[in-house]
Amino acid sequence: MDVGGGSGTTAKGIAEAFPHMDCTVFDLTHVVSDLQGSMGTGLAMIIHTEFKIAWGQVLTKPWDCLSTWFRNDDRNAFSVAHEKTLWEYAGQDASLNNLFNEAMASDSILASKLVVSKCKGIFDGVNSLVDVGGGLGTMAKGIAEAFPDMNCTVFDLPHVVSDLQGGKNLKYVGGDMFEAVPPADALLLKVN
Ligand SMILES: C[S@@+](CC[C@H](N)C(=O)[O-])C[C@H]1O[C@@H](n2cnc3c(N)ncnc32)[C@H](O)[C@@H]1O
Repeated sequence: MDVGGGSGTTAKGIAEAFPHMDCTVFDLTHVVSDLQGSMGTGLAMIIHTEFKIAWGQVLTKPWDCLSTWFRNDDRNAFSVAHEKTLWEYAGQDASLNNLFNEAMASDSILASKLVVSKCKGIFDGVNSLVDVGGGLGTMAKGIAEAFPDMNCTVFDLPHVVSDLQGGKNLKYVGGDMFEAVPPADALLLKVN
């Protein structure tokens, strides 16, 4: 993947020299939206959403706290800035919660397509799967659709999943993964 690859001149040269290699140009929406390429638009959406997040004051304030964080025992710079974890903050602020979960989901659309098409074999013999910290369930939905006989569970904090509806072989369970995780043949832990 050529990150910030512009109109794709470098990636095109590499793709021509190595025809067996899948090359992707990853750039802002307005840069790649009119270009020909299998994934350009999807990837551009990810950048667009995450820029929206990064510009939010809640998430930029921690950057001002880095030097304090380096000199104390807080878990991360977010906790220094807001005196709570990102997850606790999102649990109390519906708009941040929605924005964050949507940004995570935009990445998972692409990831779930790749996993079920290119890595099908890893699901052989798996009858049940829990996506731990699975957010809105985009990844698990893709897997549940591709493997209709597999029981899939999206496990996340209650404020993330409590209003979500499952389906035939997909359900949502709220909880804290540091306390307990529902049993399954396979646990998926995907982070962006
Ligand atoms: C970086 S996001 C990843 C979301 C999704 N797996 C993806 O890749 O798009 C981390 C997820 O973990 C969840 N999470 C954080 N702490 C958790 C906990 N203690 N128990 C369960 N889920 C948790 C968050 O709510 C969030 O949805």
